[in-house]
Amino acid sequence: MPESSALFGARASLVSGQVDAVFLFILAIAGFFFVLTQGLLIYFALRYRRKKGEPPAETPYITGNQTMEVIWMVIPSLLLVAIFAYGMFVFIKMTTPIPGATEVQVTASQFQWTFKYQDGRSAANELRLALDQPVKLIMTSRDVIHSLYIPDYRQKQDLVPGRYTYLWLVPKKTGTFDIYCAEYCGTGHSLMRATLIVMPLPEYDKWVQSERQKLKAGVQSPVERGKALFESSGCLGCHSVDGTPKVGPTLKGVFGRQVQLADGRTITADEEYLRESIVEPGEDLVKGFQAIMPPYQATLKDDDLAAVVAYLKSLK
Ligand code: CUA
Repeated sequence: MPESSALFGARASLVSGQVDAVFLFILAIAGFFFVLTQGLLIYFALRYRRKKGEPPAETPYITGNQTMEVIWMVIPSLLLVAIFAYGMFVFIKMTTPIPGATEVQVTASQFQWTFKYQDGRSAANELRLALDQPVKLIMTSRDVIHSLYIPDYRQKQDLVPGRYTYLWLVPKKTGTFDIYCAEYCGTGHSLMRATLIVMPLPEYDKWVQSERQKLKAGVQSPVERGKALFESSGCLGCHSVDGTPKVGPTLKGVFGRQVQLADGRTITADEEYLRESIVEPGEDLVKGFQAIMPPYQATLKDDDLAAVVAYLKSLK
């Protein structure tokens, strides 16, 4: 299989080409029989058309034809078995654990992906992998059923609250790929996206080193701490920080903004407004948005809250 095709898009993982081959195999069989049956239908309709002035023909009385019956039972049965066997062969290959695979914990929540690496680093809506290195995703959900889908990998798996599901990936192409949620999970479902970045191993190692150093440095400014909390608390699921509209208002340049509220008032977004909107989001609801955000009163302590507010103020 070539690395990509106009019809299927990039084939970026070990199994992409194999999945496409199964699909093409089934499509070829279905296509052959479609052309055969429809072709004969049209041919017979023309060939045995009643000519003008001809009397209606007597339909012959056919009681059965054992040879024909055996043929149309045996051939389709064999084809079905072939489709099943080929599909199962690829499915088993796709779901067989790969020894030595690096583990990444994936948590889905409305409407965000959180990826946690074995060394404790974590990232929201971004997964980085090294080329040719097998990875095992151990996945669960915090709320409802989501489904992690990487179209260029031809791989998809549900994430279910209260249990783990797995996905084995072997990246075969460097670059940036889309990760989608493929299970309707609520208002923000269509916006529940993440980016998969695949780098050559040396470059990946360098990136891991620099990330670890940042983690080890430990001392964080309130803004850095707030950013980490913002990402780990699932805020990115509904709020963008770059101006993109999502289920909730974007937080780009939120500090000092004149905010139109649902009840008609306009207020200036100061520190107190930001704090209150986190702990009691229903109080001063922004015009044009639904009151679906959970209150973070219990989740965020005072220090954390101050850090998140500091981070929001930094979003120019
Ligand atoms: Cu998560 Cu759809």
